[in-house]
Amino acid sequence: MHSRDVRDTFLRYFEEKGHTVVSSSSLVPTADPTLLFTNAGMVQFKRAFLGEEVRPYTRAASSQKCVRAGGKHNDLENVGYTARHHTFFEMLGNFSFGDYFKEGAIEMAWELMTERYRLPQERLWATVFHEDDEARRLWEKIAGLPPERIVGLGEKDNFWAMGDTGPCGPCSEIILDQGEDMACGPECGIGKCDCDRYLEIWNLVFMQFNRTSKGELEPLPKPSIDTGMGLERLCAIVQGVRSNFDTDLLRPIIARLEDLAGEAYGGPDRLKNVAFRVIADHSRATSFLIADGVLPSNEGRGYVLRRIIRRALRFGRLLNLKTPFLPAVCERVVELMGEIYPELQTARGFLHQIVTHEEERFAETLDHGLRLLQEELAALKASSGRVLPGEVAFRLYDTYGFPLDLVQDALREEGLDLDYEGYEAHMRRQRETSRAAWKGAGEEIPEVYVELAGWPPTRFLGYETLSADSTILALIRHETAGDQAEAGEEVEVVTTATPFYGEAGGQVGDTGWITGAGFKIEVTNTQRLPNDLIVHQGVVREGLVRVNDQAHLEVDAERRARIARHHTATHILQATLQKHLGSPTSLPSPGTP
Ligand code: ALA
Repeated sequence: MHSRDVRDTFLRYFEEKGHTVVSSSSLVPTADPTLLFTNAGMVQFKRAFLGEEVRPYTRAASSQKCVRAGGKHNDLENVGYTARHHTFFEMLGNFSFGDYFKEGAIEMAWELMTERYRLPQERLWATVFHEDDEARRLWEKIAGLPPERIVGLGEKDNFWAMGDTGPCGPCSEIILDQGEDMACGPECGIGKCDCDRYLEIWNLVFMQFNRTSKGELEPLPKPSIDTGMGLERLCAIVQGVRSNFDTDLLRPIIARLEDLAGEAYGGPDRLKNVAFRVIADHSRATSFLIADGVLPSNEGRGYVLRRIIRRALRFGRLLNLKTPFLPAVCERVVELMGEIYPELQTARGFLHQIVTHEEERFAETLDHGLRLLQEELAALKASSGRVLPGEVAFRLYDTYGFPLDLVQDALREEGLDLDYEGYEAHMRRQRETSRAAWKGAGEEIPEVYVELAGWPPTRFLGYETLSADSTILALIRHETAGDQAEAGEEVEVVTTATPFYGEAGGQVGDTGWITGAGFKIEVTNTQRLPNDLIVHQGVVREGLVRVNDQAHLEVDAERRARIARHHTATHILQATLQKHLGSPTSLPSPGTP
């Protein structure tokens, strides 16, 4: 089965079962400040699970582009060293929003696995959350699994959450026993090791809770289903190969690399094989991220992309690839995936330019880093030292993108050791800092806004009028919602409707006045939150304002006209740049004119 048929079989099966097939959403989650990248199929349905959004269907299925690098689900460091880890992958999933629950999910998963993909029943196992007797009974009843092939595991393995906050619940995984010859040793077993004998194929999450920012589990309005199965892994099984890199999704990319390097994949040099896999994987993440509007930079999403590109370039040196090589590899990704993901074709020219530029820019730094390593090793030997300080390995990793293995290999050849604990301590500190920095991708918003994001959107009247009457819905002072605000206080005001344009990454927000019986608020800025809630920021100039007061909203018209002129100029500039440089599909536009 070609990967295209594996994907189609999944989507068509669930369509037959009354599911609406929904296209993949962007890798950049819209209106979700809690996530760096789309890391699972459920991300675009988050608000449907929370009951904040009603969709015209209660069953859906998708094949979702995902990136797991940075944030809670991070696989970057493992990629290349295993047969299974990826930064970019596609997740097949079916979803129920208060429709079927555990029984329906297990029934359909079992039928699809055994009757459509024809996986051998006798080699399938299931894991369940150890307290979930219902799931255990269902696996026995529906699939006829004997009790010894249903394994109960704890929260770490069988309780799934999208991030620190958001929908979550106990889960159940379908596992394929690939056979004893794949075992890692006598201790090999489900929940005991991470080897490939017992391969996790499909995760069925029984969505029941929303984890709040305080860590509390609130029940969801209706129990729901979220499932996820990596397409690459499923293809490996269906196509009878032992590594995802040998499937038709990745092997052709490696073939392009073989041509470029003049070397064959799968030879005796372990590190070279790692390099083939790293570059194949990272070229996909690079292509898809750039096509979704992410550009290499030094912070947030752009920084993760930059690290991915640099890691690929570093491994390129091991294959003696000449700069620039990555654009040609990304081109292969476009050829392979462009039909299914047309955004890759749209971004083709742009992708080529960005990657070429990034590679050429980094080439020098990379060689500099390699020289630095040689110097450090020479200095160490000259001082008769035997242990390379952890700080050096960390600096090489952090600044030059050197994976630790490369440093260790170099040390081994010289008969030297590494202060591994020192290195780990630096890494830990780095991880803590970057985790804090990545949460929200530089768009961290105060807690009270996260709560407000659940409110219905503000009615925006600003295209028709610059003044209107409305009701005060919320007053926020010092990032806390209150009932009133008085003269002299800074305040943020939410109304049911407003003519004020809220800034949301594009055009700047409006200024003006909000007045009512006995109060006057000067609005100095207006912001639009995810969920299109518009927040006016300003100062109470006179009197006392209370929630539920009637108010008159008046935009500074002269300023708005000036903004509009500048905004139009920005669009003209953007259109001209795109004409000359090409355009990724979702490069942030300057906003609505
Ligand atoms: N959202 C679940 C996962 O990513 C299905 O494993």
